[in-house]
Amino acid sequence: MPTLDTHRAPIRNILRSPRLLRNVVYGVVVFLVLTSLLYRTTPSDIVSIIPHYPKPSGLDAQQDVPAAEWSRRAEQVRHAFRHAYGNYERYAAPHDELKPLSQGRVDNFNGWGVTAFDSLDTMLLMGLDDEYAHALDLVKKADFTKSRPAFVPFFETIIRYLAGLLSAYSLSKDYVLVQRAEDLAKALDPIFDTPTGMPFYSVDPETGKTLGPELGILAEVASLQLEYTYLAKLTQNVEYWNRSQAVMNTLSSANLENTGGMFPIQWNITSGKPFAYRLSVGAQADSAHEYLLKLYLLTNKTDTASLEMYIRATTHIINNLLYISPTRNLLYVTDTDMPTIERGNSPSHIFEHLSCFLPGLLALGAHTLPLDKLHEMNIDLEKLGNETTYGYAGKGYKRLKNYNLKDLHMWAAEGLAQTCWTTYADQPSGLGPDEIVISTAKNSHAYLWMDAVDKWKTSGARGAIPGLADHKPVVYTEYQRSHGTGKGRDYQIRKAGYLLRPETIESLYLMWRVTGDPKWRIRGWLIFEAIEKLTKTRTGYASLLRVDTDPPIQDDSMPSYFLAETLKYLYLMFLAEDPIKLDKWVFNTEAHAFPVFSWTEEDRVRFNL
Ligand SMILES: *[C@@H]1O[C@H](CO)[C@@H](O)[C@H](O)[C@H]1NC(C)=O
Ligand SMILES: *[C@@H]1O[C@H](CO)[C@@H](O)[C@H](O)[C@H]1NC(C)=O
Ligand SMILES: *[C@@H]1O[C@H](CO)[C@@H](O)[C@H](O)[C@H]1NC(C)=O
Ligand SMILES: *[C@@H]1O[C@H](CO)[C@@H](O)[C@H](O)[C@H]1NC(C)=O
Repeated sequence: MPTLDTHRAPIRNILRSPRLLRNVVYGVVVFLVLTSLLYRTTPSDIVSIIPHYPKPSGLDAQQDVPAAEWSRRAEQVRHAFRHAYGNYERYAAPHDELKPLSQGRVDNFNGWGVTAFDSLDTMLLMGLDDEYAHALDLVKKADFTKSRPAFVPFFETIIRYLAGLLSAYSLSKDYVLVQRAEDLAKALDPIFDTPTGMPFYSVDPETGKTLGPELGILAEVASLQLEYTYLAKLTQNVEYWNRSQAVMNTLSSANLENTGGMFPIQWNITSGKPFAYRLSVGAQADSAHEYLLKLYLLTNKTDTASLEMYIRATTHIINNLLYISPTRNLLYVTDTDMPTIERGNSPSHIFEHLSCFLPGLLALGAHTLPLDKLHEMNIDLEKLGNETTYGYAGKGYKRLKNYNLKDLHMWAAEGLAQTCWTTYADQPSGLGPDEIVISTAKNSHAYLWMDAVDKWKTSGARGAIPGLADHKPVVYTEYQRSHGTGKGRDYQIRKAGYLLRPETIESLYLMWRVTGDPKWRIRGWLIFEAIEKLTKTRTGYASLLRVDTDPPIQDDSMPSYFLAETLKYLYLMFLAEDPIKLDKWVFNTEAHAFPVFSWTEEDRVRFNL
């Protein structure tokens, strides 16, 4: 269709002539009737009607996409899910994951059929009753007392299997799912045989033997609170509540004086003390920070210890882990060491795709918490942390008191989401790499985001807030890529794969829900188009080994989280009416939704609250 802009003069003439106007109106009506007939005869097999929008400049062309088209897009995601799951069922069930290129299968998460467990709630949301019935059969048969290989990795098992069961229960009310969740929790329980209640890395459910280092990884020892708290609520079993509380107590009594109240990556699970001071929101850390906000939300805003830890963590992250790139002003989050006057934060300037959940989390927090009225939550930033308690690392608390914290969290969310999207838009594939490293000048301290924001504020808050702008994509040609002569991106690719990961899409989804700005949802659609075009195989969807080559290179792997998270967030993002309201549901770190609940008087007595 021609754009109106380039045809202004004829339109003016039409408006001046009633007869012409009548004819035009008549023509439009006929056109609409014909096209609606055309759509009605379109087969329900969606693949053939995927429209091809130009990319990535297609953003503008997408501004006026009608609601019905968004519903068709949701339907296309549902179709993609059926393609992925149908082929898993055909070639790989009851094993864990499908190999989408060779029609093979792999048992990489205990051999109980992780793809089926992880997919249950997505099926329920999509109304896929047949798939759900088959998967439920598989769930009923799984033997949690024997694992292949023998040792069960606790963290992955909790977030995929246990949470998958609980979320599916909350949507279906099939009580067998709670029973299976209890069977699983019992089989894994020897994992907590430590003085602190922080779990070992893995356990053999047949013998109860545990395996793993004494130095645990933050994400793995501290991301079970949502699952165990909800399981306790459903079963009224105080043991599960204790599992969650033991971890929360260990976290809240830890000495964080060198890290400004943020949890470092390594923890001694015997002593419950943090070990070393490496700080990150990416691999090895991510969900532990995420669960602080989400436990507070899940318990209908009653777990205030969790809330305070969330405010501390995000205060330190915003002050010390957010940086801005030298020429494009890309806002990014990186890993650092403990801050010192001499060395600053010692950032690595690596930015991981895994960290792209953070903008969504910050937006969710800004949306659900009165961060602009901290006193309503009985929070005073300087009482939460200061230089007396945290020394040099405590400086940031006072600094943030100069801002409306809701604004600041939303700005950070917006800027980070922009960068996550930009790393996709910059690639010829339209899909983002797993890890980049930002090119910085020598004195990295100058590029702390809060320094830039302070400067903007003290100079009168005129112009754009640093790091929030839309970026023009910089796509290197194949020659520039292979010769390393590309310029103007501000970063280099460290890991070029796209592992069908959800984090960027998750944040686009949350930004869309929280802000209502269609640009986030449109970007979600552009990513889905790239997924369809480049990762789809005859029998599934394949991770990409490289996103920076044209064409990209596929890998024989389809992780279960692609069905649990990536496709679920896309589907919900395109629906007109989202059944998962952000104030009524909480997603675990694998996108399994649990309903917000209140403790009853009976719970309080039973759990000694
Ligand atoms: C739960 O923890 C409380 C206090 O830490 C303890 O008294 C109680 O025995 C524990 N209950 C179970 C069932 O483990
Ligand atoms: C962990 O803490 C325990 C108890 O304080 C200590 O004996 C052990 O050496 C620590 N382990 C490591 C690896 O630091
Ligand atoms: C500093 O923080 C501690 C707790 O971290 C708090 O007890 C104390 O009151 C705070 N000091 C000030 C001056 O707010
Ligand atoms: C959460 O708490 C509010 C106010 O205390 C209450 O009105 C609401 O019903 C609670 N929600 C749930 C799901 O229990």
